[in-house]
Amino acid sequence: MITWDESMSTGVPLIDAQHKMLFQKFNEFSEAISDVTSREAAAETLDFLQFYATWHFRREEKCMDEYQCPVAAQNKQAHAEFLATFDGFYEKWQNGTITPELVRETHRELESWLVNHIGHTDTQLRQCVEKGIG
Ligand SMILES: [Fe+2]
Ligand SMILES: [Fe+2]
Repeated sequence: MITWDESMSTGVPLIDAQHKMLFQKFNEFSEAISDVTSREAAAETLDFLQFYATWHFRREEKCMDEYQCPVAAQNKQAHAEFLATFDGFYEKWQNGTITPELVRETHRELESWLVNHIGHTDTQLRQCVEKGIG
């Protein structure tokens, strides 16, 4: 279970709300995989996460550009890399070869990426917002 707190704030309430939604969906995924009979529910939350993350990334990238955030390019690059990794997992889930290793790996990768990326890259938006360049 991952929990959003104020230290993860980007200074943009809409972006923060999207991060909270990503955390909530990730937690639903965690819950679903803890029950072997609800693999379908887990696959559905992954489906949502892929769609929502892609949409969120576009919004956030636009926001960082508007605020001329120094990490804007780095943020875009990280999003592209993450989506490529996610696609790899997603394909395996869709093909029906869901092994316990795949479940563990997907969980670990999503959790560490979400927490680290939001905590270290997205939060840099805050100082740009405070400077009020946008
Ligand atoms: Fe980001
Ligand atoms: Fe983000």
